[in-house]
Amino acid sequence: MKYGSGVTEPLYEVHVFCCVNQRPSTHRRGCCASKGALNMANYMCRRAMATANSKRVRINLAGCLNVCEYGPTMVIYPEGVWYRYDNDADIEEILEQHVIHGRRVERLLITPDPARLHR
Ligand code: FES
Repeated sequence: MKYGSGVTEPLYEVHVFCCVNQRPSTHRRGCCASKGALNMANYMCRRAMATANSKRVRINLAGCLNVCEYGPTMVIYPEGVWYRYDNDADIEEILEQHVIHGRRVERLLITPDPARLHR
């Protein structure tokens, strides 16, 4: 088997990573899973398959994105746009506006401060 260089053009036009990380309820930073992230991320996967048509879209479940206080959170590449969301209606809006039409959903944007990232 030939593995190649490991470098390609982006495989996906839109690549979404949804945090579904779970922590104990006593953890000081909380977690996205405790706020329903897994159900909403799975909903996004199903809806993306049904609505993205010919666009090459990938929705991945992710571990902690290190912006827990905003959670649930996602980041969308290739631009590196960060969102927080609360419910399926927010997911629908992100799918319709950002994933399908390439327009940002201003009201759900977050801007992580690299200087304040927890380790
Ligand atoms: S637990 Fe979701 S960003 Fe950390």
